[in-house]
Amino acid sequence: MFRLSTETPDDTAEVEYLFDLAFAPGREALSSYRLRDGIAPLAALSLVAREQREPEAGGVAGAIRYWPILVGNGAGAKKALLLGPVAVHPTHQGEGLGASLIWDSLARARSAGWKRVILVGDAPYYRRFGFRRAEGLSFPPPTNPNRLLALALVDGGLDGVRGMVRRFDQT
Ligand SMILES: CC(C)(COP(=O)(O)OP(=O)(O)OC[C@H]1O[C@@H](n2cnc3c(N)ncnc32)[C@H](O)[C@@H]1OP(=O)(O)O)[C@@H](O)C(=O)NCCC(=O)NCCS
Repeated sequence: MFRLSTETPDDTAEVEYLFDLAFAPGREALSSYRLRDGIAPLAALSLVAREQREPEAGGVAGAIRYWPILVGNGAGAKKALLLGPVAVHPTHQGEGLGASLIWDSLARARSAGWKRVILVGDAPYYRRFGFRRAEGLSFPPPTNPNRLLALALVDGGLDGVRGMVRRFDQT
């Protein structure tokens, strides 16, 4: 059994260790990290999963973070969520934990009023959550457009959402 909770500063070192373990070296060179540099992840949506043990919880078995981003230019720019990184410790992969982290955080995002989520990832995995190829969106290069995926959290949440995905601090 795993317990999901929002990430706190006490979790951060373990979460970073998990991401380093789960991803190829140099993950921070990816273009998606340029959208994150110097911007804090969204604390209300970034979750950690720990094994429930008595008397103390186990280590971090999975984690997910979200960042705010903008899509498009000028007055028409729309706020969106950038999902990721998400990772599950290799000893717990395939147990449904990744899905739990994604479903739980998406529900929190919807409740918080977010309308759309974008990510760069494997479509065969994210399709089950409703993500589809993000038509009309472009992402800072180098990014394979087939890996750029989007999900509307509300009806029409992707309508008219077009253009370049940008850092949230750019106006
Ligand atoms: C991707 C990841 C988060 C999934 O978490 P998980 O807890 O292992 O996944 P779940 O248990 O929820 O789902 C397992 C299912 O997803 C499938 N799956 C896992 N990764 C996949 C991928 N990259 N592409 C397609 N399917 C994938 C598994 O084959 C399994 O399929 P099944 O249900 O038909 O048996 C985890 O494998 C991981 O940390 N991978 C390394 C880091 C990474 O790649 N992160 C995502 C970046 S796109």
